[in-house]
Amino acid sequence: MRAKIIGVIFTFFYVGISNAQSLKSNGLRDAAPFPIGFAVEPMMVKSDAAFREIILRHADGFTATNAMKPNRISPRKDVYNFQSADYLVDFAKANNRRVHGHTLVWFNEWAPKWMKKIRDSTELESAMKVYIQKVGAHFRGKVVSWDVVNEAFDDRNGSIRQDSLNEKGKTLLNLGKILGRDYVARMFQYAHDADPDALLFYNDYGQETNPAKLKAILAMVADFKKRGIPIHGLGLQMHSNIDTPEYGIENVIRQFAETGLQIHISELDISMNIGKTITFQPTVEQLQMQSQKYKFVVETYRRIVPERQQFGITTWGVGDKDSWIPEFCNCTDFPLLFDEKYQSKKSYDSFIQGLTSK
Ligand code: XIL
Repeated sequence: MRAKIIGVIFTFFYVGISNAQSLKSNGLRDAAPFPIGFAVEPMMVKSDAAFREIILRHADGFTATNAMKPNRISPRKDVYNFQSADYLVDFAKANNRRVHGHTLVWFNEWAPKWMKKIRDSTELESAMKVYIQKVGAHFRGKVVSWDVVNEAFDDRNGSIRQDSLNEKGKTLLNLGKILGRDYVARMFQYAHDADPDALLFYNDYGQETNPAKLKAILAMVADFKKRGIPIHGLGLQMHSNIDTPEYGIENVIRQFAETGLQIHISELDISMNIGKTITFQPTVEQLQMQSQKYKFVVETYRRIVPERQQFGITTWGVGDKDSWIPEFCNCTDFPLLFDEKYQSKKSYDSFIQGLTSK
């Protein structure tokens, strides 16, 4: 009798523990009630079998880090280079995974030079239309969704960007000035014409700490709905750090969810190096804060976004080695779920907790 009771207790604990462990070893996608994505470089997928193994274990879908950006696809006018993006699309298809297209329109150095040179509004409108229709048609039925326009709103006041130069004097693609503030709506229309089945997203950063931008995006969505402009989703890049206020994260997730659109946390990473020092090594406390924030983001998304609107959570990179943050901040950081050897980190365990907590 006694042995039996001990056996039952043992089985109970053993099953409990092994469930938690199997969720962990099976990866994020098995633990998640919604799709998990990674931003990946097609070349890395192609050249590294261990990397392929990791991304297939954990992810339901992929975003190309750079390979689908306009200057990669069309470095010169009328030249289209789909090779690298096609590799990712084929890889995803062969493994029954989805691809989220990123991005048809972006204002900065990822817009091709030839596009930025056009100053005439009729010519530029036509160039954008041709580009979107060509690229949209190429990937029709191959990507499930697109970020149609990335980062259209100005950080300073939430109005449509109107700058021709960035702070370093580099030329920008100034669609807001040349085509007028309503250009975003027309880009969505062109994308919809090119691929009527694709879910079309507006994607941006910093809404969690920039109320003017958040307000502007919500106003745009309301306006698009009123006018019947096809928009199906909102992308929250969420390049955040350990100090990003939880209130802001929760607020933007709630307000976005209230639009009824698909909600994609599209580029998640959480930096720790607030001072942007070169020799940064995180303290135990900073690692703890990062983990806690990952858990908070995942839990909040699960709690607030209705299931039918959960497009998923995508992290911007897999291992810390392939994060874009160190180059961007010119500093050292460890913002992702896996270390440079693709071993899962404390942040990974917290992400899983965020996915599975009651
Ligand atoms: C980044 C890439 O990760 C880098 O490799 C590249 O040098 C710059 O762009 N917001 C976006 C992404 O929408 O496309 C950016 O990706 C990160 C910020």
